Amino acid sequence: MRILSIETSCDETAIAVLDADLKGGTASRFAVLGNALLSQIDIHKEYGGVFPAVAKREHVKHLVPVLRQAFTQAGLTVEATQEVSAELRQRITELLVREEGLAEQLLALATTVEPPTLDAIAVTHGPGLEPALWVGVNFAKALSMLWNVPVVPVNHMEGHVCAALTRIESEGGLSIPEISLPLLSLLISGGHTELVLSKEWGSYELMGATRDDAVGEAFDKVARMLGLPYPGGPEVSKLAEQARASGRVNLVTLPRPMINDPHCDFSFSGLKTAVLYMVKGRELSNTEKEDVAWAFEDAAADVLYAKTLRAIESSGARTLALGGGVSANTHIRRTFTERLAEKHPEISLAIPAASLTTDNAIMIGIAGAYHTAREEFADLAALKADGNLALRD
Ligand code: KG4
Ligand code: ZN
Repeated sequence: MRILSIETSCDETAIAVLDADLKGGTASRFAVLGNALLSQIDIHKEYGGVFPAVAKREHVKHLVPVLRQAFTQAGLTVEATQEVSAELRQRITELLVREEGLAEQLLALATTVEPPTLDAIAVTHGPGLEPALWVGVNFAKALSMLWNVPVVPVNHMEGHVCAALTRIESEGGLSIPEISLPLLSLLISGGHTELVLSKEWGSYELMGATRDDAVGEAFDKVARMLGLPYPGGPEVSKLAEQARASGRVNLVTLPRPMINDPHCDFSFSGLKTAVLYMVKGRELSNTEKEDVAWAFEDAAADVLYAKTLRAIESSGARTLALGGGVSANTHIRRTFTERLAEKHPEISLAIPAASLTTDNAIMIGIAGAYHTAREEFADLAALKADGNLALRD
C-alpha cells in the first residue's frame, strides 16, 4: 500500500511518501519514496522557544513546497492538469480559511500534478501544539477531498514508538521485525515523559508519567540557565560529554526525585529547581557549566532507567522501545544499553536510528500503515486536532 504522511505537531514541517508491505503482527517492510522536512529551529531560536502562532504561520507557508519536494523525489510530479471543479475549489477554500494562502497554493499545485495513487493520507492529529496540528489536519482533509483518498489520523507518540522499532536495511529500505510482546515504550520528548505498555500490538496502557515537567523540557530549561541556545537538549549533552571525557571527578551532585518511590511516575521540576539554586546569581566558568550539565544528565538518566526497570519487572515486558527527541541523548542511550544488557539480557532494546529520532513524517507514515491495514479511516467532518491527545486505549 502507498501512504502519504504529514507531520506538523511542533516545529518541523514534514511530508513522506511510503510504500508499505505489512506481513501481519508487527513485521513489515517500507520503501521511502519521498521524504521532505523543513525545520523551523532557526526561527524559533530567536525567541528561545517555540511559539505556536509562529509555528502555525511557518507550516502554512511551507506545506505545499514540502509536498512538492516529497512528490518530486517520489516521481509523482507528473505534469498534468487536474480539473478542479468550482464547487470543490469553494469547499477547499472554506476548509482552509484560517490557513491564509494555503488554499491558493494547494489549488495551484493541484493543477500541475496528476492525482497520485494513494491508499491513505496519514496525519498527526495530536499531541502537540494545537494551532500547528490544525494546519496539518486541515491540509490532509483538503488533499483527501482533492484526490478522494481516506485520511488516517495518527498519534504522534505512536509514531515515536514505530520509529524506535524501525531498522534501516542495507539496501536503504526500512523494516520492523516481529517483536516479542509485551512491548514497553519509554517516550521522552519536549512534552512527554511516559511509560506505555502494549500487551497487544496497537494497544497502549499508561504505566507511569511525569507529574510535572517533561524530561526534554527540563533539558531545555537547564540549557537556558547555563546560557545555551534553544533547543537545549543537544547543547547540555555536548557539555556533559566533554566533562566526562576530561577524566576529572564531578563534585556536583543533584537529586534523583522519586527514584525509590514504589510507582513508575517521574518528577523533573525538583531536579530543574536544584540546578536553578546552584547557578542563580553566579557567573559560572566553562568547567562549572560542564559539571552542572554532567550532573543533571546523570540524574535524569538514572531516574529514567530506574523507573523503566520497575515497569519492566512489574509488567514482564520483553521488548523495550525508547522514543522521542530525548532518546537522541548519547548518555541516556548508553545507560540503557549497558545496564539492560547486564541486568536483563533477555530483553531486546529498540532505539531509533539517529535520522528517525527527532520529529519526521516517516514514522507517521509507518504508524499510519498499520491503521490503514485495519481501515481505521477518519470521518473528515469529525476529525480534530487535539493538543493533549493521549496514547492509550
Ligand atoms: O520529539 P521531539 O523532537 O519533539 C517533541 O515531540 O517534543 O523532542 C524534542 C525534545 C527537546 O526538548 C530537545 O531539547 C530534546 O528533545 N532533545 C534532546 C536531545 N536532542 C533533542 N535532549 C537531550 N539530549 C539530546 N541529544
Ligand atoms: Zn516528537
